[in-house]
Amino acid sequence: MQFHAIEHDVVDSTSERAFAALAAGVARHGDVHIAREQTAGRGRRGASWASARDAGLYMSVVLRPARPANPAALTIGAGLAVLEAVRDAGARDARLKWPNDVLVDGAKLAGILVETRGLDPAAPHYVVGIGINVRQREFPPELLAQRAVTSLALCGLDCTVSRARELLLERLAGRLEQALDEAPRLCGDYVAATELGGRLLELECGDEHVCGVFVELTLRGLLVRTGDGVERRCALEHLRAVRTV
Ligand code: BTN
Repeated sequence: MQFHAIEHDVVDSTSERAFAALAAGVARHGDVHIAREQTAGRGRRGASWASARDAGLYMSVVLRPARPANPAALTIGAGLAVLEAVRDAGARDARLKWPNDVLVDGAKLAGILVETRGLDPAAPHYVVGIGINVRQREFPPELLAQRAVTSLALCGLDCTVSRARELLLERLAGRLEQALDEAPRLCGDYVAATELGGRLLELECGDEHVCGVFVELTLRGLLVRTGDGVERRCALEHLRAVRTV
């Protein structure tokens, strides 16, 4: 997959710029909107994403595949690419928390937000927004009040934003292609990277808590075997959290 970089200085949100280009009919598959600063960077579940100038990597990739994709596969693929990129940058202890929070010692280093608007099956489109904390030495107190956050710099790594971008784009092309065309292999790679295989897991599946041993992860869901030997599958869109016990 070929990327086309579209550089911005200050924007509301790179994902918003990607959607504006889609709405205007000028967005290509592989466009990457990148900004030095965002004034309304957004995260999952209505959270905001701290986007101080030149401190982090803020980018959104436009996908316009020939066939509709599974957003869960895109989320898994982007999560793996970000994990690999930050490990390439030296954050060897980085881990993925379901579905795609990238953490170091429990503190959030990067996040991914996959969105689509308007479901025309004849013209599928997705915007994969990615934020990586690179050079921050401090974060807004209101963010720290909610959760632990870190950056590559706080992990002791001297990485520039442009190097982080290079490392990410190297990993992202293959992972997004896999998500579009080769989801079974991607799921296997996700299980290997997250070391879920054979583990006893506690799932938050919708409003339910399910405990069981990992059996498989496919785009149909995460399958576990519970204590009484019954197999339970949680559809990926209902899977809110996965904890190893
Ligand atoms: C999360 O909450 O984990 C997802 C964070 C995603 C942040 C990125 S930064 C680039 C893109 N533009 C946005 O407004 N959000 C995403």
